[in-house]
Amino acid sequence: METARLLLRPLVESDVDSVARLLGEPRVMRYIEDGKPVSRDDVERVVLPRVTEGGWWAAHVKESGAFIGWFELSPVEPGVAELGYRLHPDHWGRGYATEGAAALVEHARAVGLTRVVAYAMTVNTGSRRVLAKVGLRRVRTFHEQWPDYVEGAEHGDVEYALDL
Ligand SMILES: CC(C)(COP(=O)(O)OP(=O)(O)OC[C@H]1O[C@@H](n2cnc3c(N)ncnc32)[C@H](O)[C@@H]1OP(=O)(O)O)[C@@H](O)C(=O)NCCC(=O)NCCS
Repeated sequence: METARLLLRPLVESDVDSVARLLGEPRVMRYIEDGKPVSRDDVERVVLPRVTEGGWWAAHVKESGAFIGWFELSPVEPGVAELGYRLHPDHWGRGYATEGAAALVEHARAVGLTRVVAYAMTVNTGSRRVLAKVGLRRVRTFHEQWPDYVEGAEHGDVEYALDL
């Protein structure tokens, strides 16, 4: 899949170094899961087997070839997929998340899905802004008990969605 500036291709096991660098970065994981960077060992044992099943794309800048992170459009139930993204801070603030997420929403429409959903911590302003910019709207705010405290968790999580 291509956008104006990005190339998106399926994530594969040989992306281990790039993914370990991405998820090993505390700023990337700040509002995700337990809020802590993921070890290379866990990337290999836990993360890669899941994200190479299909539905996850590695994103590269076309011009330089640089790996900037991943985008996700993974099946939730028939007709519905979950949108997500994690970009390395070296590449934040250039509109790449919006560009990749918009392409995945278009892809979802093109393959006949009926709904795209997404989840974020309420305090994850950047992620929420990306979701809004590609057309998703907040459905609800909810509070779940997570095993580890992450800064801002008291404000809960938000669910976003777009009917296609
Ligand atoms: C959230 C994230 C994907 C944004 O990536 P990005 O490429 O910098 O986003 P964009 O450049 O497309 O910005 C989209 C909009 O969000 C805004 N934005 C981005 N990061 C922001 C932040 N930290 N705080 C406030 N606004 C932010 C931008 O200003 C822009 O809005 P605008 O067009 O009105 O100015 C990136 O910071 C990231 O990967 N974070 C860590 C992983 C993560 O939290 N993923 C989401 C889990 S739910």
